[in-house]
Amino acid sequence: MTALESFITDMPKVELHIHIEGSLMPAMMFDLSKRNNVTLPYTSVAEIEAAYNFSNLQDFLDLYYQGMSVLHTEQDFYDLTSAYLKKSAEQNVRHTEIFFDPQGHTERGIAFETVLNGITRALEDGKKNLGITSLLIMCFLRHLSEDSAFATLEQALLYKEKIIGVGLDSSENGHPPSKFTRVFAKAREEGFLIVAHAGEEGPPEYVHEALDLLKVDRIDHGNRSLEDDALTARLAKEGIGLTVCPLSNLKLCGVKDMRDHPLKKMIELGLMATVNSDDPAYFGGYMTENYLDVAKALNLSRDDIVTLAGNSIGVSFASDARKAELREDFQKYVA
Ligand code: ADE
Ligand code: ZN
Repeated sequence: MTALESFITDMPKVELHIHIEGSLMPAMMFDLSKRNNVTLPYTSVAEIEAAYNFSNLQDFLDLYYQGMSVLHTEQDFYDLTSAYLKKSAEQNVRHTEIFFDPQGHTERGIAFETVLNGITRALEDGKKNLGITSLLIMCFLRHLSEDSAFATLEQALLYKEKIIGVGLDSSENGHPPSKFTRVFAKAREEGFLIVAHAGEEGPPEYVHEALDLLKVDRIDHGNRSLEDDALTARLAKEGIGLTVCPLSNLKLCGVKDMRDHPLKKMIELGLMATVNSDDPAYFGGYMTENYLDVAKALNLSRDDIVTLAGNSIGVSFASDARKAELREDFQKYVA
């Protein structure tokens, strides 16, 4: 292992873009399909793994929604979240901000409360037993209607103290942020922080809409912002965090080769870029692998890594007190 690789491996990390349903590893998917009598079109873990070849976001999403259909009980959501936290602890993740997709479950008859209780019970245990702090962000599925998003927001209002923010994910093209302007206005009024996937596959215009109409606090991905110089300058000036996911971009063919990834350019342009795993079970890596692969391909320096990891603390939604702790720990490590 090179010195930079050990530095990355042992570094205390903050994750800001992880879909908990995207951390469902094939082995657990297989076990839960048996536990819950769900028929999957696979007869082994190897067959599941072999299916993970994607040409674009929709290819992945089709398998992602199929995969999450094995999650039925509160215990399933507890086990899923616990496994992600265990792996994260092994990779020195100290704080994580986790997305969940309630409509992916309520649409197939699983109660919102079942999902939320399983996840939050695991997060409480993760804090106690592993020292990982966490926050939960509820995402609306953008391929569904505004009405469905409003109904989901109504449910979240019953559990406001457990959910820090609201986001937007799923099929980007054809489902611009403007479709959800009114839902996000209501979410803001209710005190939720706001994020949205934008510029992953969709055009820079969707990033403009996320900023101007949804009034996001961070952009998830944002890669295609770089096609618009004025937008790029604005993101830099306003210090808007970008939760970038290198292995996801590679697997979903946003970049042909990791050497083409825009992360280095983002750093050079002064953007608040961060490194994250997105859907680690589907894209071949958690936090450490994302850092290692992109650092190697782009020949990132130790300073670049320090910048990226520092950005993650800076644009996180943790309290000022928790951020100060994370920063102090990180600075000790760097020194
Ligand atoms: N849901 C899970 N992962 C996603 C991604 N990368 N983009 C959009 N929606 C998602
Ligand atoms: Zn994502």
